Amino acid sequence: MGFGIFGFCLVLTLFFKHLACHQPNTDGFFVSEFLKKTVSSSSYSTFSKSYYLSGSSYCSWQGVLCDAQKEHIVEFKASGLGLSGPIPDNTFGKLNKLQSLDLSSNKITGLPSDFWSLTSLKSFNLSSNQISGSLSNNIGNFGSLEALDLSNNNLSEEIPEATGSLVSLRILNLSRHRFEQTIPSGILKCLH
Ligand SMILES: *[C@@H]1O[C@H](CO)[C@@H](O)[C@H](O)[C@H]1NC(C)=O
Ligand SMILES: *[C@@H]1O[C@H](CO)[C@@H](O)[C@H](O)[C@H]1NC(C)=O
Ligand SMILES: *[C@@H]1O[C@H](CO)[C@@H](O)[C@H](O)[C@H]1NC(C)=O
Repeated sequence: MGFGIFGFCLVLTLFFKHLACHQPNTDGFFVSEFLKKTVSSSSYSTFSKSYYLSGSSYCSWQGVLCDAQKEHIVEFKASGLGLSGPIPDNTFGKLNKLQSLDLSSNKITGLPSDFWSLTSLKSFNLSSNQISGSLSNNIGNFGSLEALDLSNNNLSEEIPEATGSLVSLRILNLSRHRFEQTIPSGILKCLH
């Protein structure tokens, strides 16, 4: 009986060790949750074998760059992969060391409420997706933001007031159309 439980625990331990990269509350887990929910179910298995999610550590996945300790994801890039739907809660919003996120040219429709806690984010590219409505004033939380590209979505043209508090912002692209990408220089001046 005692051995039975011991054996069972050993098997469990080995099983979870194998799944180490998907262990809850690691950055790799949050990214895999995002991909699970935004890659279409028909292409998920091909996708996970051939593109992301393969390799022993999430730091070696395609599109991922980790910090020197190989613990936190600092950059994530998944451009033009047909990802669709809203970014779910408990995915990118949990990557608290994330500095650069590029999800351009997908079919992303919205941002999660926990997204605004990413205070280390410097570059965010969500151009050519399907975000609609107006940009949240919570954008003001991104105190380190240097580049924000939300062009070619279906956002209202209004720029939230809080954008003015983003002191590091150098590039702001909110144009609806891919090639109409300038903002009045007066606004840019106000940002500095
Ligand atoms: C955002 O991504 C698009 C498509 O990949 C690219 O053309 C554009 O230059 C990027 N924007 C910024 C500010 O880097
Ligand atoms: C864009 O937004 C407008 C109004 O917010 C809506 O009527 C329209 O259907 C949207 N278009 C797309 C392609 O989502
Ligand atoms: C948005 O504007 C910035 C700055 O002009 C530019 O670097 C970027 O390529 C533009 N994005 C797209 C998708 O054209």
